[in-house]
Amino acid sequence: MSRFRIDQILSRHGYCSRSEARGWVRAGRVTVDGTQSKDPTARVPLAQVLIDGEPVERPEGILCLLHKPPGVVCSRDKREGPNIFGLIPERWSQRNPPVTSVGRLDKDTTGVLLITDEGTLVQRWTSPRHKVPKLYDVVLNRDPDRSLIDLFASSQVWLPDEAEPCLPARLEITGPCRVQVELIEGRFHQVKRMFATEGLEVISLHRSRFGDFELKDLPPGEWRLLPMPPV
Ligand code: URA
Repeated sequence: MSRFRIDQILSRHGYCSRSEARGWVRAGRVTVDGTQSKDPTARVPLAQVLIDGEPVERPEGILCLLHKPPGVVCSRDKREGPNIFGLIPERWSQRNPPVTSVGRLDKDTTGVLLITDEGTLVQRWTSPRHKVPKLYDVVLNRDPDRSLIDLFASSQVWLPDEAEPCLPARLEITGPCRVQVELIEGRFHQVKRMFATEGLEVISLHRSRFGDFELKDLPPGEWRLLPMPPV
């Protein structure tokens, strides 16, 4: 069974900094196999540690699905206003490494956003090589021409100032001014910019699926933890 220093366990999982761990241990907040710990540098099996009477939170890592509401940004920059990290437990942002979003959605975009502290998953799910399908429900300022279906499916949509055309995207017209679009890449403002190439404006944008992950009945602003896939 692998052993870790108590101060490292506390800081890795976002409870406190390594220097604060001494205070937590002194205050009797940490037990190992039922006995109050005295030495923050002791190497112990993580599974035997309780902090304030609770097992260490998600030692296998955080993977969470957030229903991103409108009006929050995916950046941590306070100048950009309220962000998604205010909607999830603060301790997850204090983990080492901290949680981050798997790609970004614009401030006004709603829907499925994955959040994790596992860099390999971020890499895997954002890399164009892995072609993770993302499904968007889009409201446009006017009805699109049906020729857009073939145009999006071709490799002929060029975004301004980009060296490569967009990879083929699946477009379905779902109602008046409404379409669904499925992308296998995730360029900056990609959906809005793809429609803009044809003079169309996106009025609202909602991501209903990311890979196999769907919101189901999760309300806006709420999150649920997901099992960690093998990394
Ligand atoms: N495409 C956009 O234009 N915005 C998003 O938030 C996501 C995809």
